Amino acid sequence: MAQNLIPISFTINGEKTTHNVKPSLLLIELLRDQLKLKGTKPGCLEGECGACTVLLDGTAINSCMYLAINVAGKTITTIEGLSTPQKPLDLVQEKMLEHGAVQCGFCTSGVVLATKAFSDANKTKGKIPTRLEVKKSLEGHLCRCTGYVKIVDAATDVY
Ligand code: FES
Ligand code: FES
Repeated sequence: MAQNLIPISFTINGEKTTHNVKPSLLLIELLRDQLKLKGTKPGCLEGECGACTVLLDGTAINSCMYLAINVAGKTITTIEGLSTPQKPLDLVQEKMLEHGAVQCGFCTSGVVLATKAFSDANKTKGKIPTRLEVKKSLEGHLCRCTGYVKIVDAATDVY
């Protein structure tokens, strides 16, 4: 049975927008298929790999497990939203490159955004996390290439 389209307004990478969505549409589908933001990667599509991570009001979430309709009134940041003309790379991205923590790149958007959310929250509290805490913050992000050590090195070096 055809589903009714429902208009939702939200902010994506700093811009307010309104889109018509089916109630069953996933956030990852809204981002990749309707908004053409392909930096958000579809991996497992069942909440296990972290490749589809985006920030929702500053908190890292799996966009494959979130209904698009629930972003009404909220703010989403995808990997594309970390770039500005003045500063094409966020500090987290610079550290990922510096530490050689990017290989095929499939996991990278999710890792960068999760690290960004964790480091922003820590910096707000004036806290420098331990390496173990950094590792725990990246649980749920699978990487087939790097062996994780360089990713953790980079995520530890943003403080
Ligand atoms: S694609 Fe969403 S967690 Fe794997
Ligand atoms: S760099 Fe290839 S999956 Fe992480």
